[in-house]
Amino acid sequence: MTAQILDGTRISGEIREKIGEEVAALKAEHGFVPGLTVIQVGEVPESSAYVKMKEKAANKAGFLSRKINLPVDASEAELLDEIHRQNEHPDIDGILVQLPVPDEFDENKILSAVAIEKDVDGFNPYSVGMLSASKDRFIAPATPVGIMELIRRTGIDMKGKEAVVLGRSNIVGKPTAALLLKEHATVTICHSRTKDLPSVTSRADILVVAVGRELMVTSEYIKEGAVVIDVGVNYTEDEKKFKEVYLDFPDFIEKLEKKGYGYFGDVHYPQALKKASWITPVPGGVGPMTIASLLMNTVTLARRRRLGE
Ligand code: GUN
Repeated sequence: MTAQILDGTRISGEIREKIGEEVAALKAEHGFVPGLTVIQVGEVPESSAYVKMKEKAANKAGFLSRKINLPVDASEAELLDEIHRQNEHPDIDGILVQLPVPDEFDENKILSAVAIEKDVDGFNPYSVGMLSASKDRFIAPATPVGIMELIRRTGIDMKGKEAVVLGRSNIVGKPTAALLLKEHATVTICHSRTKDLPSVTSRADILVVAVGRELMVTSEYIKEGAVVIDVGVNYTEDEKKFKEVYLDFPDFIEKLEKKGYGYFGDVHYPQALKKASWITPVPGGVGPMTIASLLMNTVTLARRRRLGE
């Protein structure tokens, strides 16, 4: 079997275009545009890249987009003050605190400070509970929302299917499992301590991998015909290894040679291509969907807060 590609770049482009149209309509009919504030503490390069992408995408969709960058030595109290200011701000509908925050901060306290009606990331413990309890008006985190949209696009009915989520993070693994459960899949979460991982993952009709270990999921982990969603984005400058893995993908190699770096997924893409029915590329799979979902969540919150929907 040769897998079909779940093209996150194309699908997120379509979604973002629709959001742009919706924002124009909100402005014309109701006189407001959705407002999103992204708060970052310090300058972790990876976080800065993500924050920049989020800010740019929000601007492009016609949002009011604010980026607040607190200095690396900012205190927890300063961050909490900023969150409270954004909670009170009439033009802001969504607040996102980029994680990780500095180690000495109490992450739970910070996420709890984001007003529920502006919790665009769904990381406030109340939102986490609402998702877990399958209540209707929850906001689910952006990456899992994007993953679910990709699975939906395959056209498969999730009801009764075996879904395995490899990875148990609060940002991806656990909320994705909750969303799959809501779609009536039979869900297993496994992780680095799970015994005989391939025997568990190879049962999956839907396999979501979010472990942050490059190329971990090889052919033996994958059931013939599975839908494979690869959330891993692992930076590499190892040209030799890259060329070995992507031997039959000259365009990938060309890109690496041009830039001097590339990315491996958590899934061994060439092996998965031969076994899965659908597979997400890295990059260009889940990543772009996360941004589109963040914008969707912001619009949802804006409509609720301003129009009482
Ligand atoms: N850090 C890594 N992923 C995310 C995310 O989706 N949201 C936030 N706020 N921080 C992150």
